[in-house]
Amino acid sequence: MKTLIKKTYEDLSKEAAKIIKEAIQEKPNLVLGLATGSTPIGTYKELIRMHREENLDFSQVISFNLDEYLGLSADHHQSYNYFMYKNLFDYININHKNIHIPDGMTENVEEFLKEYEKKIREAGGIDLQLLGIGSDGHIGFNEPGTPLNSRTQIVKLTESTIKDNSRFFEKEEDVPRFAITMGVQTIFEAKKTLLLASSGNKAEAIVKFIEGPITSQITASILQKHPDTIVILDEVAASRLKRRY
Ligand code: PGA
Repeated sequence: MKTLIKKTYEDLSKEAAKIIKEAIQEKPNLVLGLATGSTPIGTYKELIRMHREENLDFSQVISFNLDEYLGLSADHHQSYNYFMYKNLFDYININHKNIHIPDGMTENVEEFLKEYEKKIREAGGIDLQLLGIGSDGHIGFNEPGTPLNSRTQIVKLTESTIKDNSRFFEKEEDVPRFAITMGVQTIFEAKKTLLLASSGNKAEAIVKFIEGPITSQITASILQKHPDTIVILDEVAASRLKRRY
């Protein structure tokens, strides 16, 4: 695992976008795993700029999103589907047929979960998976206690995640209690992973994930074993690390 510490969120976002750009240039039909939340927004802004100013071409890229709230339709303004279009897809030339986001309104959940895994396999597996981390150490929505060998599944959100995400909703009660997420093992199988974290409320999760034991209580900790993981932190998120890498 390689850890890069950047001065600011802007520097972190630029570095992440540069890594994604290079991967697309190397493999134009890159299978790109994407994430939502506040953290990747700066990276998406920079990718949009690269598309506009540097002709970064997304036309053959195939995307798979990590997760979606169960019960929110694609056009709900807090759905991750809506987020992805408003923060990235509406501004780049990705072929909409190549976009995959879990369907929060699926009627046949079990079938959907299997299909999602199958589509990832058929695309040849994820080449590069972008990740955030929850203040409870989750990746995707894989909350503490989720088995490390889990595949795409339904999960119940923890109180801390509901609290963290309530800032996007009118009231805490409006935050959905369940979500569909790629499993820990599904994420681990990506050929390369790129985890971003900025701001102080992540500092504790960062120390546990990088310096603590590998445990299902901090699902991000599985990445310690991943052969090609880059972690990009800003100074504040890195502030509790005992060792600078
Ligand atoms: P955030 O969420 O980027 O909004 O902090 C990260 C996550 O929960 O994975």
